[in-house]
Order: sequence, then C-alpha cells, then structure tokens
Amino acid sequence: MTRIIAVTNQKGGVGKTTTALNLGAALALEGSPTWMIDLDPQASMTASLGLDPYNLELDVRSVLDSSDVPMHEATVRVERNLYLLPGSVSLPGGPLASDEPMDIDTGRLKHLLYRYRLPFEFVLIDTPPTLGQLTLNALMAAGEILVPVQCQYLAMHGVRALFEKVRRLREGANPNLALTGIIATMFEPGSRLDEEVVAELKATLGAERVRAVIERDPAVAAAPVAGRPLVHLYPNSSAAQAYRSLAKELRNERF
Ligand SMILES: Nc1ncnc2c1ncn2[C@@H]1O[C@H](COP(=O)(O)OP(=O)(O)OP(=O)(O)O)[C@@H](O)[C@H]1O
Ligand SMILES: [Mg+2]
Repeated sequence: MTRIIAVTNQKGGVGKTTTALNLGAALALEGSPTWMIDLDPQASMTASLGLDPYNLELDVRSVLDSSDVPMHEATVRVERNLYLLPGSVSLPGGPLASDEPMDIDTGRLKHLLYRYRLPFEFVLIDTPPTLGQLTLNALMAAGEILVPVQCQYLAMHGVRALFEKVRRLREGANPNLALTGIIATMFEPGSRLDEEVVAELKATLGAERVRAVIERDPAVAAAPVAGRPLVHLYPNSSAAQAYRSLAKELRNERF
C-alpha cells in the first residue's frame, strides 16, 4: 500500500522542504518509488530541483483546478524512482496568486489521489507554513504526518495548533491520520540549548516519536543552489546520512 505522508508544520523555515526533498531522494535511492508533491505556492521544492516554477506548462494547480489534467501528465521524473508534481506560484498565497479568492475544496487532493492506484511506495507532500486550505488538503489526503521542528527555544509551542488540528481531523474527516514522527532539524552539536530542546521533545511526545535529529550543516543550504538533492551532492554530510537512515527505517516499517 502507498504511504502518503504530509511533511508539515505551520511555522516557517523549520526544514519542511529540506526534509521532504531529501527524504524523498533517500527513499528513491533505497529503491522505493517515491512521488513528491509540492503543495507550497513558494514552490521551493520545485526550485531546489532546478526547475523554474514560473515557467511550467503544468503544475499542481493544473490538476487541482481541472479534472481534465491527469496527475501523471503534470508529474516530472526527477531521477530513478523519484517523481515530482511541481508547485504552483499562482496558488493562493503564492507570488502570482490572483486577487480573486480561489476556493479549493479541502478534500480535493484526497479525491485526486484516491482515483488512481498509485504506482509508488511513498508519496511525500511538502506543505506551506500555514494551516490554510492547501495544508488542509495535505492533511486530508495523508495517512501520516512528519513534523520537522527546528531545535530552538519554544520549539514545541509552534506545533500546538497543528496537533490540535490533527486531533480534530482524527475525530472527523480523517480518523486514521497518524503522527509518524518529529524530525528535529538544524541541531547544533555541542549546544546545550539544542540538546535540551531534543530532550524536551522526547519527554513530551515520547522518545520513539523523535525519528531523526538532523544537524545544522552548510551542505544543506548549498544543495538547492546546485538543483540537486543533498543526498546525491554531499552523500557523506551528516544531514544526508541522517535522511538516509530515516529512509531505511521507514522502508522497514510494516504499515
Ligand atoms: N540541517 C540544516 N542545516 C543547515 N541549513 C538548513 C538545514 N535544514 C534546513 N536548512 C536551511 O534552512 C532554511 C529553511 O529550510 P526549509 O526551506 O527546508 O524550511 P521550510 O520549513 O520548508 O520553510 P518554509 O516554511 O518557508 O516552507 C533553508 O535555507 C534551508 O536550506
Ligand atoms: Mg518549505
């Protein structure tokens, strides 16, 4: 069965795109056919893979908008086992969004995903830093969420609203939505504060919920400039290795 995972946190800049992209590339490297959906109108995942989101004929908006554009037509092959449904800068909140409000039904993506038998083991959805209609589309379509949390003071505070939303979805529209885990990002080795943050996350949520600790690593910021995932460009960097081991763990889980 395909595992559909939303990578989400309504706080900005915590490592959602970095996590979705590098976990996707790592899963593909391990041999799992993986599809990444860039649902963020900033389209950073798309741009990080060397595509120009301002110059795409088809993108995620094309399929959300019209039932005539099948998902596979808008999907781009990135490399072996790795596919991308590119982001759209004209979705609400994006730089080219129109002033007219665009009403996207929160069940739209789910409807589209469940229409097909997906030829993927994993679908990873990158979400914008909001709890708006696009993120809700992801949370409705997903069976699981992975939540990147930046190691910093009050890290947990930011995810309260998300957890509350997830709790309500579980009681209603998406009863099986599971918290697969937290990814602690931008961890500074040797920093006492960062160690305290990880310890607090483990104490609050359960140690098994903290699925990976990703160190702050200059290679992470450099990879998107080259338009290639970190796990290929700097495979020996600590962050690449952490994403590889997370991918291995997820593949070994029975779901
Ligand atoms: N482990 C890391 N080490 C160093 N830099 C990192 C690391 N993880 C992420 N970054 C950098 O931090 C910035 C924010 O990361 P990213 O874009 O993945 O966050 P995001 O949660 O997707 O942001 P947004 O909410 O804007 O979508 C980027 O410049 C990224 O390159
Ligand atoms: Mg992002």
